[in-house]
Amino acid sequence: MILITGGAGYIGAHVNKMLSGAGRETLVYDNLSRGHREFLRWGTFVEADLGDPEALHSCFKTYPIDSVLHFGALIEVGESVMNPSGFYRNNVANTLNLLDAMVKHGVGRIIFSSSCAIYEPSPEPMTEERPVRPSSPYGQTKWMIESILADYANAYGIRYVNLRYFNAAGADPDAEIGEWHEPETHLVPIVLQAAAGLRPHVDVYGADYDTPDGTCLRDFVHVNDLATAHILALDYLRQGGAPDAFNLANARGYSVREVIGAAGRVTGQPIRVIEKPRRAGDADRLVGDAGKARSTLGWVPKIPDLEDIIRTAWVWHRRNL
Ligand SMILES: NC(=O)c1ccc[n+]([C@@H]2O[C@H](COP(=O)([O-])OP(=O)(O)OC[C@H]3O[C@@H](n4cnc5c(N)ncnc54)[C@H](O)[C@@H]3O)[C@@H](O)[C@H]2O)c1
Repeated sequence: MILITGGAGYIGAHVNKMLSGAGRETLVYDNLSRGHREFLRWGTFVEADLGDPEALHSCFKTYPIDSVLHFGALIEVGESVMNPSGFYRNNVANTLNLLDAMVKHGVGRIIFSSSCAIYEPSPEPMTEERPVRPSSPYGQTKWMIESILADYANAYGIRYVNLRYFNAAGADPDAEIGEWHEPETHLVPIVLQAAAGLRPHVDVYGADYDTPDGTCLRDFVHVNDLATAHILALDYLRQGGAPDAFNLANARGYSVREVIGAAGRVTGQPIRVIEKPRRAGDADRLVGDAGKARSTLGWVPKIPDLEDIIRTAWVWHRRNL
């Protein structure tokens, strides 16, 4: 059985659906602080907090867990700048509870949801060799957990894969689940809400970056392509693969303005833009090279095109918002 922390959230729910569809038994562990009951359609659910070591212990005792996918975390970069205490506690200290429970119960495989937010930004697509320099407490929490995993591997033999996602986007092609954060701060859903008339405009934070059109560049990866990478990473560990980190990216940066333009074409709706000052913690460009995931895990993204990604998100948004 696969334990999925944060499985009621955006990416965890997509991975849960894919694993369940492949006949794997899953157990979602989520406190529903940011997740959604509506996304709990597959596998078993335990409503509990990663900050509760007893609840974790009882889970590992009750269910035949052999692997862990660890999505459970706070994720908003801006919120982490305002509230580092909450982020270090929830993301780092609570991950120690999870890892200690794994060690205690002899569970030795974990796939960790890391992020491109750990890297020093670069004009070129970044490989895993890029120097680490998180620009926010959120990014710091991801790097701290990667470091802790390396130490737990040394001391206790835990085997891990760190998947460093670039920007997750899009939705389940069946439109059963999609991107839903509250409050929403992610670009694609915000732009689609504006296209649907649910918000009057889109705020663009910073139009004076050193990028072709002055707005930040991001590399978007379809959420189901991320999900596939988790299955490949589990297989990799099962086959004895060594602990490692892999970028999940499409090696193509789209500016905020390009995303808004693509969403306008997909939806056929005008999208009003208001320029705002830069936001603390935002890097100017985060574009990734996922060559290592391709060659080692055999990961090949199926929906690399931004308009195709947005189209899947739009179907879900229209059905659900
Ligand atoms: N969305 C992205 O573009 C992106 C990019 C890089 C990395 N990530 C990472 O991927 C993971 C999933 O992101 P997401 O977009 O699905 O976020 P999300 O907020 O939709 O999901 C996170 C889930 O974790 C749960 N959770 C948080 N704290 C918990 C706790 N203490 N106990 C139990 N459950 C808890 C929340 O209720 C929520 O369901 C996160 O670790 C995030 O940092 C996301």
